[in-house]
Amino acid sequence: MIESLSGLSITNKTNFPAVNHSPQISAKVMVIDNRPLSRMTVVDLLVVDGYQVIESDGESAILELVSEKQPDLVLLNAVLPESNGFEACRQLKTDLRTKDIPVVLMTVGDRREYRLQVMEAGADDFLVKPLDRLELSTRVRTLIHQKRLNEGLDQTKQVLFSIAKAVEGRSSDRGGSCARVADLVKAFGEYLQVGPEAIENLVFAAHLHDIGTIAIPDSIMLKKGELTPEETELVKKHVLIGEQICQPLSHRWGVLPIIRHHHERWDGSGYPDGLANSNIPYLAQVFQIIDIYDALTSDRPHKQAYSAQEALEIIAEETTKGWRNPSLVTKFTAFVQELEKNKE
Ligand SMILES: [Fe+2]
Repeated sequence: MIESLSGLSITNKTNFPAVNHSPQISAKVMVIDNRPLSRMTVVDLLVVDGYQVIESDGESAILELVSEKQPDLVLLNAVLPESNGFEACRQLKTDLRTKDIPVVLMTVGDRREYRLQVMEAGADDFLVKPLDRLELSTRVRTLIHQKRLNEGLDQTKQVLFSIAKAVEGRSSDRGGSCARVADLVKAFGEYLQVGPEAIENLVFAAHLHDIGTIAIPDSIMLKKGELTPEETELVKKHVLIGEQICQPLSHRWGVLPIIRHHHERWDGSGYPDGLANSNIPYLAQVFQIIDIYDALTSDRPHKQAYSAQEALEIIAEETTKGWRNPSLVTKFTAFVQELEKNKE
């Protein structure tokens, strides 16, 4: 099926025999090219491969068009008369509505200058005109397959976040804590300049770190009195269960060490592996400080919230005992003092 924009009429009769690849992916591809002949050639090839094709001459606002049609992939001519294809690609890749749609830029040459522009524009791939049929077919299929996988992972993420929220809601003890920890750990990650990917992992961990407590019975999780040694051992297992539950987040593998190690201690007296010093993954250390600080500065049924200063003093005491990384605690103290100063 072909959907034609800007009043262009295209027939779906083609002269190309189908490329044999299976399984065929049923998907919607948008072709944006101001040159009719070049566009028709690409459209014909895609139709033969079984794709639903939307075509445009690039004269209307590309971002709005892609946002409205939500194709599975965009083939975009790099040089357009009304707008720059590279700039249009950059916009697509930064807009929340379109950033996950793969974009392939079509260029007229394979010069180094083009390659750099393609990378800078955030395109997923590029093809050189005249297009090689097999190359076009393969790239389109691969990128759409990857998009499908990412969508599946997004759904997995949503399910895990929902479970984590339900687990958090089971006990009124830490209600709303995940969202608070996520905000704070993001700010601390930025303060430490750990990089965008690490920050995303920290934010994921904020939501998922205690998901493993789902396997711990209510009679233990909601117990008012002190836990028995057996019960304590069971609670400690939440980090391993959480790591196991989150295994399907394969594109976010950096979250798993944070979940597993967020109860380790600098002197090796923590769990589950008794790791010490720099053997504890750095992001797990960063996350742990925020998790503890949030617990100390939040109201709980059995205690009132400590002030920021009191919480820092408690964390300093724990550092003296050998439980926390002294240099990281120094940075955290400066971070909190700056936060408090900005509140005044
Ligand atoms: Fe935990």
